[in-house]
Amino acid sequence: TRVGDLAGRRVVVTAGGTREPLDPVRFLGNRSSGKQGVAIAEAARERGASVTLIAANLEVARPEGCDIRAVSTALELRDAVREAAVGADVVVMAAAVADYRPAVVSEAKLKKDPGSDDGLTLELVRNPDILAELGREPHDGTLLVGFAAETEPDAERLLELGRAKRRAKGADLLAVNRVGWTAGFAADDNVVTVVDGDDTVVAELHGTKSSVAQGILDVVVSKLAPSS
Ligand code: PMT
Repeated sequence: TRVGDLAGRRVVVTAGGTREPLDPVRFLGNRSSGKQGVAIAEAARERGASVTLIAANLEVARPEGCDIRAVSTALELRDAVREAAVGADVVVMAAAVADYRPAVVSEAKLKKDPGSDDGLTLELVRNPDILAELGREPHDGTLLVGFAAETEPDAERLLELGRAKRRAKGADLLAVNRVGWTAGFAADDNVVTVVDGDDTVVAELHGTKSSVAQGILDVVVSKLAPSS
């Protein structure tokens, strides 16, 4: 039943983790490998979609058959998503995007102060919330799918955090993803609960990141308006 059910659709997927430079050789980053986002891009392509993958510092091979735009920082990811999202049927924000970036990026490699043993205090400024921006703007005809990466151990509270995040960001669907030292980020398997715009749980998925990707796309297909 899945074969070709995304034919004629344009799907944009973000994957990986952003890196925010401090100087020419250092960055603030996160442990997203890109596995989950790449699995979604591959699954969408297999199901017939034309796929744009916004790839932030992937630690896995780039999938075949997708239009790939490589980015590194949150600001670059934002520009690439905003451009690709125009006219897209689906945007899936699986990338782990830095909420803050260093206020100043040094042109020279930062050096220790030889005259003192003091620590270093970094000043960070907020990055834009890309999903919330897209969610706030009119996006008729574009289904917006977000993730919520949360360390909350209690299942009920985890779901409530996910619902609140979906509302705050204006996403049409949100995949609640419990993460931790060994869960979610970089792992081969994943556990995800999908909530829709009525706060209803529409899927509970666990297994390989490919099987989770297929389950998320099953929900996406069920929510898409008939194509013209
Ligand atoms: O890449 P893997 O190693 O396979 O790991 C997969 C994953 C755990 C990273 C992935 O499944 C996941 O949960 N991605 C979302 C990570 C994240 O940034 O979550 P968040 O709860 O901080 O953000 C919520 C949503 O807003 C996300 O869709 C995120 O892409 C988006 N966001 C966040 C911050 C920001 N400044 N702009 C955004 O658009």
